Amino acid sequence: MSSAPGLTLVAAVARNGVMGRDGGLPWHLPGDLQHFRRTTWGHPMLMGRRTFQSIGRALPGRETVVLTRDEGFTAAGVHVAHDLAGALAQAAVLAGKMGVDQIMLVGGGELYHALIERASRLIITEVDADVSGDVMFPLISAGQWQLLARSELAREKGDDFSWRHASYARIAAPAALAYKASL
Ligand SMILES: NC(=O)c1ccc[n+]([C@@H]2O[C@H](COP(=O)([O-])OP(=O)(O)OC[C@H]3O[C@@H](n4cnc5c(N)ncnc54)[C@H](OP(=O)(O)O)[C@@H]3O)[C@@H](O)[C@H]2O)c1
Repeated sequence: MSSAPGLTLVAAVARNGVMGRDGGLPWHLPGDLQHFRRTTWGHPMLMGRRTFQSIGRALPGRETVVLTRDEGFTAAGVHVAHDLAGALAQAAVLAGKMGVDQIMLVGGGELYHALIERASRLIITEVDADVSGDVMFPLISAGQWQLLARSELAREKGDDFSWRHASYARIAAPAALAYKASL
């Protein structure tokens, strides 16, 4: 792939902006997990160490880059990066090898807040509930993001709440992605 890949944020967010609680998800939504699998399949995924530990393993069919400041961190089947520029650089190389044009940023809160300004797309599961929690998704500013599509509310077997999918594109060009690990 010749041009640099874009950055897509993939997240499930409650009506009140909550997306995490006590190191895990504040809901059980098996229907949305299938959507997550389809959306991220075949792509490099970038995630923070806490999100990786909440998932507990490398997910199949994708390449995972885990961001941590812990130089001694290791985990089977994942790539490890120690700063944002290095993580983006690794994920960009993986996207090229995988033949895709997007890096999927899949959480958690710290990484979404750090990188939303560099994203070009948002794929949001809007969870139709107000829930308590300790990790919030950044504000999706109407001046910066254009809603492309929003599905009907759905609720599948085993889901705690109804949800729908919304996708957004950045209105203005995103801040340049720094791909050089040496930056
Ligand atoms: N609803 C959703 O879609 C969704 C998606 C993902 C996660 N979540 C939830 O979000 C929560 C986790 O989010 P979080 O904000 O607590 O943590 P996080 O963003 O997953 O991970 C934070 C960790 O990433 C590493 N890190 C962050 N910035 C870094 C940098 N610039 N350089 C090097 N390392 C860096 C640090 O790891 P070290 O401490 O190892 O240095 C930091 O502690 C959980 O509750 C999870 O279930 C929800």
